[in-house]
Amino acid sequence: MNILHVCADPQPMEEAASKQIAASFFSNVITRNENARIVNIDLTQEPPAIYTTEQYRNFWYPVLIDGYVPTKEEEGASTYAHEQAAHVQEADILVLTMPMWNYSMPAMMKSWIDHVLSPGLLYEVTDQGNLPKHKIKKLVLLISSHDVFTEADPRDGLSPAIENSFEDIGIDDISVVWADGQYPKLHVDFESRKAIAIEAAEEVAEEICEDFS
Ligand SMILES: Cc1cc2nc3c(=O)[nH]c(=O)nc-3n(C[C@H](O)[C@H](O)[C@H](O)COP(=O)(O)O)c2cc1C
Repeated sequence: MNILHVCADPQPMEEAASKQIAASFFSNVITRNENARIVNIDLTQEPPAIYTTEQYRNFWYPVLIDGYVPTKEEEGASTYAHEQAAHVQEADILVLTMPMWNYSMPAMMKSWIDHVLSPGLLYEVTDQGNLPKHKIKKLVLLISSHDVFTEADPRDGLSPAIENSFEDIGIDDISVVWADGQYPKLHVDFESRKAIAIEAAEEVAEEICEDFS
């Protein structure tokens, strides 16, 4: 079982609810499945650049413009996307860890997704829709936020964006574990909220290990 973990939380572990949830998730996975292979990508250490016009032309123009052949410069600018998509292609499970920032995902996570979801890498665009080119069976989102969010909360610009993007390439088994209410001044129960999220992450880890046993 290969798991790719992509983290976009710059806070140290002791202050980062999302990382603590991730730590619990992975310790549970390792305990239950000794064959689990985990590759970690810390976007805070090597943040992706924003998607450029060269990358757009390299990946999207061949889809949009019949006969378009990318230039060497456009191809050369797309190495990061190829490298990152190769990590995804090796994985059975993708875990994305992040805090909510401005009702969305941190820009580094958004940019990483912009790169790996370029056409031709993890899917081909066909007249019948997207044809997946990966073996991801499950996507897990581990999120933290100050505010409290309800189911399908219209203020949530994070989880639907990621869910929709990955559903587009055929990944529809998605678990979201969310420690919301992590603002101690407003939410006196922030610790128990985090504990509930940690427990939920352990349950997701257990389910995954059962599915892959
Ligand atoms: C730039 C920035 C923007 C934020 N925007 C939001 C927001 O829109 N909604 C929210 O609930 N919390 C927001 N927060 C708070 C974080 O989501 C919250 O502190 C979270 O617990 C941090 O995650 P961590 O404990 O895993 O590091 C923001 C924090 C930062 C630094």
